[in-house]
Amino acid sequence: MNSSLIKIRKIEQSRINEFDFNNIIFGKNPTDHIFLADYHNKEWSNLRIEPFSNLSLSPIALGLHYGQSVFEGMKAYRLNNNEVVVFRPEKHYERLNKSLKRMCMPEIPHQLFSNAIYTLLQIEESWVKNINGSSLYIRPFMIATEERLGVKISDEYLFGIVCMPMGMYYSSNLKVKVETKYSRASEGGTGDVKCAGNYGNSFLPTHLAKQEGFDQILWTDSIQHEYIEESGTMNVMFVIDDVIITPPLTGTILDGVTRDSLIKIAKDLNFIVEERKISYKELELAFIQNKKIEAFGVGTAAVISIIESISINDKLYHTIVNPTSIACKLKKVLNDIKSGSIQDKNNWLRKIDYFTHEDDDIVEFKDSLKLWIINK
Ligand SMILES: Cc1ncc(COP(=O)(O)O)c(C=O)c1O
Repeated sequence: MNSSLIKIRKIEQSRINEFDFNNIIFGKNPTDHIFLADYHNKEWSNLRIEPFSNLSLSPIALGLHYGQSVFEGMKAYRLNNNEVVVFRPEKHYERLNKSLKRMCMPEIPHQLFSNAIYTLLQIEESWVKNINGSSLYIRPFMIATEERLGVKISDEYLFGIVCMPMGMYYSSNLKVKVETKYSRASEGGTGDVKCAGNYGNSFLPTHLAKQEGFDQILWTDSIQHEYIEESGTMNVMFVIDDVIITPPLTGTILDGVTRDSLIKIAKDLNFIVEERKISYKELELAFIQNKKIEAFGVGTAAVISIIESISINDKLYHTIVNPTSIACKLKKVLNDIKSGSIQDKNNWLRKIDYFTHEDDDIVEFKDSLKLWIINK
């Protein structure tokens, strides 16, 4: 089989009826199928969609030891008119390849990516519900699979995509702490890509902050520990006296798709948006001067999570939290776009193309989003 074919093998009995969409626990319940592809001899092959099951991986697969592991996270929604859409897949695709390049892993051809996503989504379509702001989280990932120990760039990889239903990520407002000891990323490092190591590195400081009663930490730059970077799996935004301020993309924070979308929405709503460095000292001074301050984290999983308090050098400061806040206005517009309630002026929503197929079909793609069944 070559890289323009996807072999489909469907599950005998879907697990969807066992799933409670009104009480979603994120991350534990994958949908019925997984997409997989192998990279071998410098090309992608063996593209397949099969029932979700464990992978078989050698204990000496390079990716388990030396960190060549990259992922993405995006969402599909069911619009009010019942259509299923994916939010800004192209931007996620660009970021995936940027991450792969930085980690010396093979980039994914666009056709492979889009056809894998749309074929999988068509099969898992019934898992995308329009209930209480729920969505279907899509997790593309790649890991080095070459079997050998020794620090080297792998010659073999596995690319996969799994999906899981998602409700609200953080259901209550967040208490955060400005971190001035540990760093998440450094200049010239991998802070602006989505590689697994960034997350492993952040566990200890976050765990310590949780022991102190915080939900998350606000990372600061690794040199002066002064300038705010991001928080958990979110970019951060502050509003000081009606001006929206968010740290710039200087290479140590992720270029978040939600951040980018909200900046556009905010500018469309005529808010002033400043992408600039903001130090915790500036923030502290603004609190001391009794300025009107909002803070929120933004990301695909969290959408917008309000930060209700910030600890700076062990002093706790409280932000403005109310339903008329700028954060709530931005969140409403973003959610309205994603549900199809207002016009998608920026063309962020991508519909899935449907095709007919039966179990055990092989589908061939000629152009992105166009699929032909060629074999049974
Ligand atoms: C470290 C980090 N920062 C920011 C974000 C937000 O990015 P996005 O809006 O693309 O989900 C994420 C989530 O992917 C993340 O893991």
